[in-house]
Amino acid sequence: MFMKRTHTCGELRLADSGKEVVLNGWVKRRRDHGGLIFIDVRDRYGLTQVVFTPEASAATHASAEKLRAEYVIAVKGAVRKRPEGTENPKMETGGVEVVASSLEILNEARTPPFPIEDSVGVEEELRLRYRYLDLRRPKMYNALEVRHRVILAARRFLSGRGFIEVETPILSKSTPEGARDYLVPSRVSPGEFFALPQSPQLLKQLLMIGGLDKYFQIAKCFRDEDLRADRQPEFTQIDIEMSFVDEEDIYGLVEGLMASMFRDGIGREVKTPFPRLSYAEAFERYGTDKPDTRFGVELHDISKIAARSRFAPFMNAVEAGGVVRAISVPGWGSLSRKQLDGLVDFVRERGGGGLSWMKVREGVAASGVAKHFVGEDLGKIVSSLSSRDGDLILICAGKKSDVYDSLAALRSRAGAELDLAKKGVFAFLWVVDFPLFSFDEEEERYESEHHPFTGMRTEDIELLEKEPLKVRSLSYDLVLNGVEVASGSVRIHRGDVQKKVFQLLQLSETDIRERFGFFIDALQYGAPPHAGIAPGLDRIVMMMLGESSIRDVIAFPKTQRASCPMTGSPSPVSPAQLKELHIRTVD
Ligand code: AMO
Repeated sequence: MFMKRTHTCGELRLADSGKEVVLNGWVKRRRDHGGLIFIDVRDRYGLTQVVFTPEASAATHASAEKLRAEYVIAVKGAVRKRPEGTENPKMETGGVEVVASSLEILNEARTPPFPIEDSVGVEEELRLRYRYLDLRRPKMYNALEVRHRVILAARRFLSGRGFIEVETPILSKSTPEGARDYLVPSRVSPGEFFALPQSPQLLKQLLMIGGLDKYFQIAKCFRDEDLRADRQPEFTQIDIEMSFVDEEDIYGLVEGLMASMFRDGIGREVKTPFPRLSYAEAFERYGTDKPDTRFGVELHDISKIAARSRFAPFMNAVEAGGVVRAISVPGWGSLSRKQLDGLVDFVRERGGGGLSWMKVREGVAASGVAKHFVGEDLGKIVSSLSSRDGDLILICAGKKSDVYDSLAALRSRAGAELDLAKKGVFAFLWVVDFPLFSFDEEEERYESEHHPFTGMRTEDIELLEKEPLKVRSLSYDLVLNGVEVASGSVRIHRGDVQKKVFQLLQLSETDIRERFGFFIDALQYGAPPHAGIAPGLDRIVMMMLGESSIRDVIAFPKTQRASCPMTGSPSPVSPAQLKELHIRTVD
């Protein structure tokens, strides 16, 4: 048996001076100083300095010479106050050190491929390949601990309100959430597949039909989609559904849930209730349905002024039914010609068309475009945007969706580059009043703005057939500092309405039967009115910790290419396995 620890490596304080203790942990580093050997021993809880002196124990001192980074040790010794001037106020244990009397090397370690320290920049691929070493960094411990506390807070909060956690299957049938499915071949039913759930959406609705009333689940979801910093192919939702409620009940519940998660996770109080903004207003003011409201730089409609300018691109855009919108960015008036060209390219690369700019100096906007405005119009633009000297006015003209997209991207770029967002602020925002459908012009068909189970205002049900784009949904998104952290809706609970929505989405009778027959049937056996939401756990923890990638709050994430460099998955399987699954591969 090895010497078992009496304390963790983050625990010892001045008050422990004189105690004999045993620490277990990893050698962070070894420093030799004129006969003394210092090591820092590390575990999840912190770091403690251990000193080996020939006087305390010559044998132990000699074996300490063998120590290398990441060796696993058990060390016994006496706690003492560090000599005057050698205290380290940055370490919680920095007032003390342990003078070693005996040492056991529990395991040796190869030299790690990167130093295990927060401050060292290491290529992410390498970090993920040796994730078990990367996990030894205090930052990773902290992320996983915060994540744990947040999950615990969610479980406690929801259980306290009468919710019960129910697990739903992973081997299931496709649930459409807008991504491709991960499929699992069935050995028993040749040629047939399970789909991993994109979310437990249909199952949680079935639980409501089953009378469960209040359900939640810390649910794994799987989506084969293009990955970004805030997207993983496998992620976690705090999935929630309730019966006999409306959207106000969900807002109240989730505001309380967020407050308890932030309190327990990072000790922060968040202000509730959260402000609400309609989908239309979010686009009008920010060009996006997930605005970062920690700073202004809002969009302004200058279509009317632009239409009477003598600048062809503006006039043509309005003539063609498009719009002209502008933002005023503080400080960007000093950008060089090259930097301005960079902004024009930035918009063009996103398919956004032309971008015009004007620099504001001494209360006047100036550029090649400025001279095309007539009479007082230039002054009106400057005053309506409340532009100040040093501002750069950016103008986009064209199709509404392109203009919004370009200006929203420029706004967030300006926000990031100029550090405009208020520090330490968690700006929650409900975005409400989404349309039920959008129209995909390329495919010439309607698409659900959320998923096809989203309910609509009762008075709009009759618009379903004639004017689907006018139907207002009962869905809501929760946005935090510009990131969508939750999404949900009141659901359709009538079979006939659900069927009509499927038909509008151009699903054939056979498709509806094969894919959703079980669900349409269930809706006809007394489905209660119900509503729900799914906060994305990874994104919320990412935001709490101020990280820019959800990979940093997941123990074993996938790369941007949806693979795992540590295990080498996905990987080929043996021909025998494929045969058993009735699968033949083609090159
Ligand atoms: P939705 O698809 O909007 O809704 O997802 C809900 C929340 O889950 C998070 N999220 C993701 N996080 C990481 N990686 C991803 N690939 C990813 N995709 C989504 C986001 C998002 O807001 N069933 C519905 C919810 C409902 O209607 O109750 C759903 O899944 O934070």
